[in-house]
Amino acid sequence: MTDLLDSGERLGRAELEALQRERLRATLRHAYENVDFYRRSFDAAGVAPDDCRSLADLARFPFTAKTDLRDNYPFGMFAVAPERIRRVHASSGTTGAPTVVGYTDRDLDTWADVVARSLRAAGVRPGHKVHVAYGYGLFTGGLGAHYGAERLGCTVIPASGGMTARQVRLIQDFRPEVIMVTPSYMLTLLDEFERQGVDPRSTSLKVGVFGAEPWTEAMRKEIEERFALDAVDIYGLSEVMGPGVAQECVETKDGLHVWEDHFYPEIVDPFTGEVLPDGEEGELVLTSLTREAMPVIRYRTRDLTRLLPGTARVFRRMEKVTGRSDDMIILRGVNLFPTQIEEIVLRTPAVAPHFQLRLTREGRLDRLTVRVEARPDASSGERAEAARAVEAAVKDGIGVTVGVEVVDPGTLERSVGKIRRIVDLRT
Ligand code: DLL
Repeated sequence: MTDLLDSGERLGRAELEALQRERLRATLRHAYENVDFYRRSFDAAGVAPDDCRSLADLARFPFTAKTDLRDNYPFGMFAVAPERIRRVHASSGTTGAPTVVGYTDRDLDTWADVVARSLRAAGVRPGHKVHVAYGYGLFTGGLGAHYGAERLGCTVIPASGGMTARQVRLIQDFRPEVIMVTPSYMLTLLDEFERQGVDPRSTSLKVGVFGAEPWTEAMRKEIEERFALDAVDIYGLSEVMGPGVAQECVETKDGLHVWEDHFYPEIVDPFTGEVLPDGEEGELVLTSLTREAMPVIRYRTRDLTRLLPGTARVFRRMEKVTGRSDDMIILRGVNLFPTQIEEIVLRTPAVAPHFQLRLTREGRLDRLTVRVEARPDASSGERAEAARAVEAAVKDGIGVTVGVEVVDPGTLERSVGKIRRIVDLRT
């Protein structure tokens, strides 16, 4: 295995930290000297790049939030001359102005390297065929996966998202060993395999590299069993790079190693912003260490996780993301994440892994209804029993009363990319 590691992955912990210190100082200087936003925010906080002598000193620097990127729309966060920007990507912008990110030639090169490293950790090897069903376009998933797989020496099938019947056909005909797709779209593909009468366990697929949305251990088990493949987690976000910030190793499947030679992670208390020690759960904050076009300093991801020591790699791991703080539902004082419902749904017999959380308001009370699809072969008695079981599990495990509706197979909207779990009908 070790002969497969790149030079960054072979560093010892002390060497890695020395490299991080050096890269962090260079990044802070680069941001301060070339981006008005950082100059103003550092000045306002009374810190200068040279104040960062140790990694812990980073905590003295101000955070960067998504709103800061929006306020500087479109190109105000760029730190290099416009002609050096080789590509831009953007987030969907469903809630306000989109956020735009830029890459120099070297950034694109680094990105391909970290995705290639991620794929190698996932068990992908040169010569494998990789079916990329992440969306191509402004979203970073498709192109990010694409160039990383090419960098590793794979054959890429750039399917993008959608046209589900054709995806199944391509998988049957081209016989890829690897698929890269959101876990929710993988479930849509599963339906389509079954609709076409093809046994999903009979495909050529050996590895699935799933990310772009939270998914649970229960979902891993479901996908692995239904498709007979290894399912591993890939994490990333456009503001920091795209896919390939952290990756789970196939041999351990124990959380995602953060590629710490390029991205420096911290966990902070989401309310106070105080840095928390490794092992404690909080919000992931990321600082880029090598980005040229758009360095990001202490970016608040809003993703909740914890940092753990490395296992299969020297880099620290992040636990599978519980959810985004924006997706946290507060119901009569109880915090609830869609991933908690996913765990419950997946261990309940007679219901399928397709569910939606519907928020309504009755008088002054918020009400949450879990709408979950029955498995095609479930009897009406089994459906009623499943509804009771989900309701009881939510009450016992999370401590709150919800309504549960078991609906017919195929009722709920299917994902072609990132799934929307929460439908908020409160006015
Ligand atoms: O989703 C990048 C990506 C593409 C990652 C393909 C992995 C695979 P954004 O559209 O900017 O970028 O969304 C980033 O998605 O802050 C998380 O909330 C969520 N996310 C991404 N990967 C995971 C994951 C891409 N493995 C936002 N687990 C992030 C949980 C994830 N959430």
